[in-house]
Amino acid sequence: MAKLPAMLSLRHLLMLSLAVNVSLILRMVYEGEREGTNKNMEGYNRIIQKSRLVIPSTSFANSTRKDRSGGMDNVINLDQGDPTMYGRFWRQMGDRTTIIIPGWQSISYFSDPTSICWFLEPEFAKEVVRLHNVVGNAVTEGRHIVVGTGSSQLILAALYALSNHDAPQPISVVSAIPYYSSYPSMADYQKSGLYKWAGDAYTFDKDGPYIEMVTSPNNPDGHTRQSVVNRNQGLLVHDLAYYWPQYTPISFASDYDLTLFTVSKSTGHAGMRIGWALVKDREIAKKMTKFIELNTIGVSKDSQLRAAKVLKTVSDSCEEENSQGGQESFFKYSYKMMEQRWKLLRAAVDSGDLFSLPEFSSGFCNFLNQESKTQPAFAWLKCEGDIEDCESFLRGHKILTRSGKQFGASPKYVRISMLDTDDNFMQFIDRLSIIQN
Ligand SMILES: Cc1ncc(COP(=O)(O)O)c(C=O)c1O
Repeated sequence: MAKLPAMLSLRHLLMLSLAVNVSLILRMVYEGEREGTNKNMEGYNRIIQKSRLVIPSTSFANSTRKDRSGGMDNVINLDQGDPTMYGRFWRQMGDRTTIIIPGWQSISYFSDPTSICWFLEPEFAKEVVRLHNVVGNAVTEGRHIVVGTGSSQLILAALYALSNHDAPQPISVVSAIPYYSSYPSMADYQKSGLYKWAGDAYTFDKDGPYIEMVTSPNNPDGHTRQSVVNRNQGLLVHDLAYYWPQYTPISFASDYDLTLFTVSKSTGHAGMRIGWALVKDREIAKKMTKFIELNTIGVSKDSQLRAAKVLKTVSDSCEEENSQGGQESFFKYSYKMMEQRWKLLRAAVDSGDLFSLPEFSSGFCNFLNQESKTQPAFAWLKCEGDIEDCESFLRGHKILTRSGKQFGASPKYVRISMLDTDDNFMQFIDRLSIIQN
């Protein structure tokens, strides 16, 4: 028998066969989608039942993916967390989220002059409270709601409101590494005299007041977090953009002083640019409102009305799911999608030695009423071995990601969006499997 080349060891053959397996499964998923026939889905299901990858039969059957003939040539951009993957659900909802706004409506700057946040649309506020009650992820009682143009604007409003305007020095803003990559630039881009980025919360040792951004689940690594500095002059902003059932078990109703949420990551409507803050202290809520008044004289009423309708549809879908014949709720649907994506990603990563992913424990989700997994909106991928700059390495394979450096961490890590279109995501999985050979 001819000798195998030294390079082609048994281990290599095993890895190759795993990669081919993953690639084959992905191709079957894709072909099944393209044909859109039950026959193909049955064939696909037979294959995945035999494989290590067990994926619910709903899979990507009605995927928005079109053409994957790009091979290795096209650029796959997973740098940003653009939540386009939820588009299919909303298309299926048809007119349930359609609103009509006549020309005479929403003319005034004011929504509710009696409220602290005078530009907050009452209908939007009502649906925010209802959704938190349905999901159980936040206490709304005794809270002031401040609406913002995305939670991005509310982060700045919070920094403005929490800083002492008479202090001789700007207050330090910290967050634990790896932190959301926008915090440093948001804190510093206007060179404010009120607040200043001071880096990693773990190593922060300056005396005096500080603001700590606590992101949970965390962007980029998906872990559940608590404040880390814990000194008595600390002011906390809890950024809970990802505290929703599709990403993490809802184990308690958050009950903090200042909490931020956004439709961008909860329902996927990033383009609507709507976020909200739940604020305990009346004076802080007033100052945040003032910031938004100075900044944009309020927040688009049209967007708030649209957001109210979307949140209402989500809450309705949760309540209807339990009634007979009710459709799958938005969160059940998105949980399953995230579950499938994480299974595919882990299978691709496990088919070789080049990459690794964080592990997460599961927990009981009070909303789903079952043990559920942590399946973050971003994959915090590590390049193993000699690859020191994971972002450049993947860029060499035409996969655009965000380097760990931008999160204050090692360049051996990259952040990869898990929320892109099925098409992009599947191309990425396919390419990752090929690279591992
Ligand atoms: C942790 C975190 N906070 C805030 C934001 C900003 O979201 P928005 O689209 O609501 O401005 C993001 C967006 O990616 C995020 O990841």
